[in-house]
Amino acid sequence: MQRLVLVLALLFPAAALSEPISGYQFMEPSTRQLQDDDFLNPAFFLVERGRQLWDGAWPGAPEGAASCQSCHGAPESSMRGVSARYPALDPATGKLVNLELKIQSEIARKLSAEPPQYESADLLALTALIAFQSRGMPLDVPTGEKVAGWLAQGEEIYTTRRGQLNLSCQNCHGEHWGQKLRGDTISQGHSNAFPIFRLIWDEVGSLHRMFSWCMEAVRAEPYEYGSEEYLALELYLADRGRGLTIESPGVRR
Ligand code: HEC
Ligand code: HEC
Repeated sequence: MQRLVLVLALLFPAAALSEPISGYQFMEPSTRQLQDDDFLNPAFFLVERGRQLWDGAWPGAPEGAASCQSCHGAPESSMRGVSARYPALDPATGKLVNLELKIQSEIARKLSAEPPQYESADLLALTALIAFQSRGMPLDVPTGEKVAGWLAQGEEIYTTRRGQLNLSCQNCHGEHWGQKLRGDTISQGHSNAFPIFRLIWDEVGSLHRMFSWCMEAVRAEPYEYGSEEYLALELYLADRGRGLTIESPGVRR
């Protein structure tokens, strides 16, 4: 029996390890309960705000101007599964975009309006609304030659030690998950619940805000929200989390 286990371990060394575990599993029961119940989930007001923005004329737009709704119809059908596929190459530009950047460009191009800034309540609201439509669906970002360079860049950033503490993302989320760090249990650092309501922020934040928080935790200089570095990292993380389902909008400590 023991020999069999050993042989299996040698044959499939990575399989057991590479089964991704959602950050949800590392949360206290009280935090999980907040995510489990849409009425208690403090991120939910943003989904509702997102729905108002989706349905109505964009703030400041002339009467009768197009809205998300007038082109796309109900988000429940038109946006189902969309966020599971992002970040993706934008057909219009050929560039890698995440959901936030895609929404910004929709507002600029299709509504001819000034897009809300990254991390603004309006952008988080539309992001939460659209991500929510993929809840329960598996992460399914693009693979293959066209994104290979982005994935390689993401992996490079993920595994590079940085900051005064000289730690990489991989050091904490790949090698030390399950361990305690200043009141947190370090998870595998997956992206499947964003945007999240984070209790210690007392508000909703994007994945890129989380990246910056982690970089600051090791006293490294963070990149800009929406930067190529963060997009590459986002794609790499979604690929690394393949098998997980979307929980957005999530709740974390
Ligand atoms: C010093 C250890 C440490 C390092 C290094 C670190 N993180 Fe984190 N990270 C944390 C802690 C602690 C949390 C909050 C608890 C948790 O969810 O893991 C967290 C949370 C996260 C989450 C949210 C997980 C969820 O389920 O909501 C993501 C995503 C993440 N980190 C990505 C990264 C990336 C990308 C890097 C590298 C740029 C990085 N982290 C570097 C400690 C670290
Ligand atoms: C004038 C019509 C029009 C308006 C207004 C419009 N869209 Fe779109 N949208 C489209 C079309 C057509 C596409 C597909 C082609 C593309 O990606 O540009 C699209 C694509 C998208 C996608 C990507 C879907 C995918 O499958 O990858 C998202 C997300 C999106 N729109 C969100 C929005 C949001 C949010 C608004 C409101 C702020 C909005 N759109 C307003 C026509 C519109």
